[in-house]
Amino acid sequence: MSKFKAIVFDAYGTLFDVNSAAEKCKDRIGDKWVSFAHYWRTTQLEYTWLRTLMKRHKDFWQITEDSLDKSMKTFDIDSSMRNELLNLYRKLSTYPEVKEVLIKLKKKYKLSILSNGTPDLLNNLVNSNDLKNIFEDIFSIEEVGVYKPDKKVYDLPTKKYGVKKEDIVFLSSNTWDVSGGGNYGYNAIWVNRNNTVFDNLDYKPKNEVSNLTQLLDIV
Ligand code: LAC
Repeated sequence: MSKFKAIVFDAYGTLFDVNSAAEKCKDRIGDKWVSFAHYWRTTQLEYTWLRTLMKRHKDFWQITEDSLDKSMKTFDIDSSMRNELLNLYRKLSTYPEVKEVLIKLKKKYKLSILSNGTPDLLNNLVNSNDLKNIFEDIFSIEEVGVYKPDKKVYDLPTKKYGVKKEDIVFLSSNTWDVSGGGNYGYNAIWVNRNNTVFDNLDYKPKNEVSNLTQLLDIV
């Protein structure tokens, strides 16, 4: 028997490459595509936190559009690219190792996604990347109407599975999401894809991996 009851994955940045939409347009955006992609992502996340604090919820797709509009103006990107970037965001690619690792883990564990994305967005990402039948559940914050790192979000899998918080392995590449899930009580593991520095927010993950393949040595 395994010591863990479920493995829960963050979606954006952990399974799906949030920079892949801008990258696919890099010939037209030019060298600034990386800074633009980072700015779009940071603005998108800031809007989730700010809207939760202001109690003015909009779903993740609307926030993705709003943050794109600000980012396109900031980086002076031709407005004719707006629809293309949004369509690409609906079909973000996975990181290269993701599918193979998930197939292996599924033989041993209940796997699920816990994400800020809407059910529709998450189902589209799973289907367009041919990951159907991998996940037991796709938990969306839309069920509670607030964004991570609110405790109500991390409660979704714990309540559904009726398990202890620490029996859930939670993986995210977003340091703040690892801090959020770890402070909540999950066994949170950081997927440090870009070799960066962790937070000072009262939780240090016991394990850190640079990609999901290394997870197979831990669980
Ligand atoms: C998500 C964001 C945090 O998928 O990446 O919830």
